[in-house]
Amino acid sequence: MRVLIAYYSRTGVTRKTCSAVADVLRSLDDSIEVQVEEIEDRTDRSGARGYLAGGKDAMLRRPTEIGPVEAEVGSFDLVVIGTPVWAWTCAPAPRTFCEQFAQQIDRAAFVATMGGSGDRGAFKALAECCGVEPLATLTLLEKHVKSDDEENYRGRIEEFARELATKAGGQ
Ligand SMILES: Cc1cc2nc3c(=O)[nH]c(=O)nc-3n(C[C@H](O)[C@H](O)[C@H](O)COP(=O)(O)O)c2cc1C
Repeated sequence: MRVLIAYYSRTGVTRKTCSAVADVLRSLDDSIEVQVEEIEDRTDRSGARGYLAGGKDAMLRRPTEIGPVEAEVGSFDLVVIGTPVWAWTCAPAPRTFCEQFAQQIDRAAFVATMGGSGDRGAFKALAECCGVEPLATLTLLEKHVKSDDEENYRGRIEEFARELATKAGGQ
């Protein structure tokens, strides 16, 4: 099974989460091939101004310009899309990725990280943009990702990776 994990991360929380999902998936089975790709948002999202404008763009469901995507998205059996929750929905870069590659995504799973709430809105937006319902979803709180907590971070990632391997591996 070939899995692409494509994510956007402004401050590293979703990056850490998606890298950990990739590591666990690879460790589960030699037949699982995982490629990880960070989605680049060409809009400057740094600082307080970037935060405010980002929240507004997310709320208004505005797409953004993303950097070139190296992966052959259509060649993967499963595409896992990772996003931070912004304004109770997904961030603009993963939204744009899904819109651009919707035709090439048959099976998807979603990962969200957040401060406190809004993952349901983010997953709904990603599903609409990709045109597919996810096989599985994983939500982690930023504080748990940063704490490396066994129960709320490592254990949840392991559970999610196993769910993906079972659901997508069986074809
Ligand atoms: C513009 C903006 C809007 C946000 N809106 C929400 C929100 O609606 N709900 C929430 O729980 N966290 C919200 N957050 C917090 C992020 O979801 C959280 O910090 C996330 O884990 C950051 O992931 P990253 O480091 O991969 O960018 C927001 C952050 C930003 C920058």
